[in-house]
Amino acid sequence: EQFVCADESPMTLTRYFMGKANEQLDEEHVQDLQNLMASIQMACKKIASLVSRAGITNLTGYEASGSINVQGEEQKKLDVLSNDVLKHALKWRGGKLGIIASEEEDEPIMVDELASGNYIAVFDPLDGSSNIDAGIATGTIFGIFAESAGCLASDWEAKVDQEVLTCLQNVLQPGSNLVASGYCMYSSSCMMVLTTGSGVQGFTLDPQIGEFVLTHPSITIPSRGKIYSVNEANEPAWDPVLRSYIASLKDGSNSSGMTYSSRYIGSMVADVHRTLMYGGLFAYPADKRNANGKLRLLYECSPMSYLIEQAGGIATTGRERVLDVIPSSVHQRVPLVLGSPEDVQELLDKYYEAS
Ligand code: AHG
Ligand code: MN
Ligand code: MN
Ligand code: MN
Repeated sequence: EQFVCADESPMTLTRYFMGKANEQLDEEHVQDLQNLMASIQMACKKIASLVSRAGITNLTGYEASGSINVQGEEQKKLDVLSNDVLKHALKWRGGKLGIIASEEEDEPIMVDELASGNYIAVFDPLDGSSNIDAGIATGTIFGIFAESAGCLASDWEAKVDQEVLTCLQNVLQPGSNLVASGYCMYSSSCMMVLTTGSGVQGFTLDPQIGEFVLTHPSITIPSRGKIYSVNEANEPAWDPVLRSYIASLKDGSNSSGMTYSSRYIGSMVADVHRTLMYGGLFAYPADKRNANGKLRLLYECSPMSYLIEQAGGIATTGRERVLDVIPSSVHQRVPLVLGSPEDVQELLDKYYEAS
């Protein structure tokens, strides 16, 4: 009932948050989230436009300066531009945002030097950017944390540098603290999929009206799938339990008796979205070369794990629940396995048996 509009016009992302704000006035954050989501959706619409026209506007390829980000990755033009679009959209004072952390920023930054805000935004402005020049799906991943006491806008008198540094460190929160998270996928359709802690909602950008329209209310992940998604080139370097489990998906000796298909796009947003829609398992595991895998905890794994759990799935590092991991640094990497509960649980049971 909550998703049906009185008139014929669609339930847009904007109206959805207006409705939530009205329904749950007592729930803290909801009204502020409305403002924050207004900034994020505007930024994602802009990035969607930039990505779809990259070949026309000469925005494919790498930054002319050959700049390398803190990850050691050569930045694409659109990595930098998407980051700027999000930063500018989030600097809007109404968002009550204090601090942001981004894959493309070495350190967390104050949104407004004069005062902090009540929220912290973390984001991967362009996920899967290595695919951008091939016109393959990419995305933006975001997470919103509440700022902690002592760093709120209200108590932000002129803080000395040390106190500012302390507040900047407040980005290092476990995913279990997330107030909202989600992604915008730039693909055959542009979809915003998000959670604010009461389930997962999917919105599709309707280019005819320039609005994200609710198309997938209350998304739940299938309990089991028939697709696994991992970069098989790293298979020789995986741990033996994972190698044996993936082998069991190929030959049907897993508990479902099914032989699985493999799908790997190489853009986390697209691989996670397909896993959410069709079920199965997505992983970027640790291997002999990378003890913590590749994906970043704060702005890739935590936001995606919050969303997957809200949809009824499981998200683990293989050793512990992703949402329980407290980041020790902004760009910390963790191994990741997420997806349908039965798929991921079977792998966890094998790790348990082997321990
Ligand atoms: P980003 O483009 O934000 O740096 O992220 C790329 C990530 C993720 O999107 C994807 O799942 C993974 O890199 C693919 O890595 P491999 O090419 O090593 O498989
Ligand atoms: Mn990158
Ligand atoms: Mn990414
Ligand atoms: Mn990225």
